[in-house]
Order: sequence, then structure tokens, then C-alpha cells
Amino acid sequence: MTQLAVDNVTKEYPTRDRPLSVLRGCSLALAAGQNAAILGPSGSGKSTLLYIIGTLDSPTAGRVTLDGVDPFGLGEKELAAFRNRRLGFVFQDHHLLPQCSVLENVLVPTLADPPAAKASGDANAAADRARDLLKRVGLGDRMDHRPAEISGGERQRVAIARALIHKPALLLADEPTGNLDRTTATQIGDLLLELQRDEGTMLLVVTHSLELAARFERRFELDDGHLKTT
Ligand SMILES: Nc1ncnc2c1ncn2[C@@H]1O[C@H](COP(=O)(O)OP(=O)(O)OP(=O)(O)O)[C@@H](O)[C@H]1O
Ligand SMILES: [Mg+2]
Repeated sequence: MTQLAVDNVTKEYPTRDRPLSVLRGCSLALAAGQNAAILGPSGSGKSTLLYIIGTLDSPTAGRVTLDGVDPFGLGEKELAAFRNRRLGFVFQDHHLLPQCSVLENVLVPTLADPPAAKASGDANAAADRARDLLKRVGLGDRMDHRPAEISGGERQRVAIARALIHKPALLLADEPTGNLDRTTATQIGDLLLELQRDEGTMLLVVTHSLELAARFERRFELDDGHLKTT
């Protein structure tokens, strides 16, 4: 069953002379539990496409649906809840809050959305899930550290745990291993794929690494605004 459908998405950015056409009709479909990598040269629109799928940017034309829901048809509050509960994001930079502990950082999405925390039981259930995720990413003994007190690879593990706290239907990652050395990048790639399988979430990763992309079920390449299967 198709869970994520991207249909003929275009994106134009207005510029002084004429609109800059970045995406010229991109389509892709992911079934529940599938993973895919998006490759393409710098400036080809990979982040733009991922941000549109993640509702952080809107398409000029075309449609994105997750489980049949078009997020761009939702009101502001509903859209924020949809983004928080149904999607998980991992960026090249971890974006952790420096003043919060590792455990608190993983819990941040549950604070932003109290009704979701209530629905999933209570604050204790959220904390249990956060601890469980941190153990699974290998940080069971780093929960009280601040982000400055752990390594770059460990910070990215925290970001992955945070992205999964609400059991998202779709996990999106934009060059998640871009700032890491090769060995650490391989470990983070392994971890993303392992958690994606265990959690049954869909995973869409933008990467420049052919090595990482080779380990995904499906690969797409953005070229001149078009998305091709490779
Ligand atoms: N807000 C914006 N306004 C105008 N042009 C933009 C904007 N954001 C991105 N662009 C342009 O759109 C194109 C695609 O950018 P995007 O960031 O999606 O590329 P990318 O494939 O992710 O590149 P990289 O691999 O370097 O991260 C670029 O040419 C960029 O200059
Ligand atoms: Mg990018």
C-alpha cells in the first residue's frame, strides 16, 4: 500500500528577472516500511524536495500525501501537529538544545505537543520511550550529558532518537552523515536502517554518499529538476 505519494511536484523560487525552476515535476511513491535514498549534485534541489515532503516548504504545484492526507490542506495548528507526530527529521547538523541533557533533547517533541504526550499515556511513558530509544542508539550511559559533552556521532544518534520519539510514519534525513568521518558515517547509516526496520517507519535519506545510498532498497537521482529511479 502506498503511504507516501509525491505527485508531479514543482518548485519555483521567485528571482529578480524570472522564476528559478528547481523541481520540474517530481513524483515518487513509498510503501509502508520502505526506505529510499535521494542522490544528485549540489544545488539540484534535494533539500528543497525533502523539505516539501516534510511540510517545511510548500510546492509551487503538485501534491504530497501521507496516508491519503494532504498536509498542505490542513490548518496551521493541524499542520504543526501533523509535522510533529507523523514526521521525524534528522539534519546534517544535529540541532540539539545545548542547555538540555541528552534525555531532555529526545523529549523535546513531546513538550511541543502535550495532547500527543497525553494520548500516548503520560509523561512517564514518553520518558520510558526516550530511554529505550537512547539505549537502542547506544547511549544508555550518556543520558545526563549535555550535547557539548558527547561526540559528533553521538549527537547524531541523539537526533535520530529524538526524530523517532513519536513513532513517525516517515523519517526524513538530509545528509545525516555529511559531517562525520567515514567509519562513524557507516555506523550512523547502519543505525538509521536498523531502527527504520524495527520501527516499521518509512525512511527517505538525501545523501552524497554512494556507499550509503547502495544500502537502501530504492535509489532516486535528482537531475535538472527531474527525479529518476537509478
Ligand atoms: N529560498 C530560496 N530562494 C531562492 N533560491 C533557492 C532557495 N532555496 C534554494 N534555492 C536554490 O534552489 C536550488 C536547489 O537548492 P537545494 O538546497 O535544494 O539543493 P541541494 O540539492 O540540497 O544541494 P546541496 O547538495 O548543496 O545541499 C539551488 O540552486 C538554490 O540556490
Ligand atoms: Mg541540500
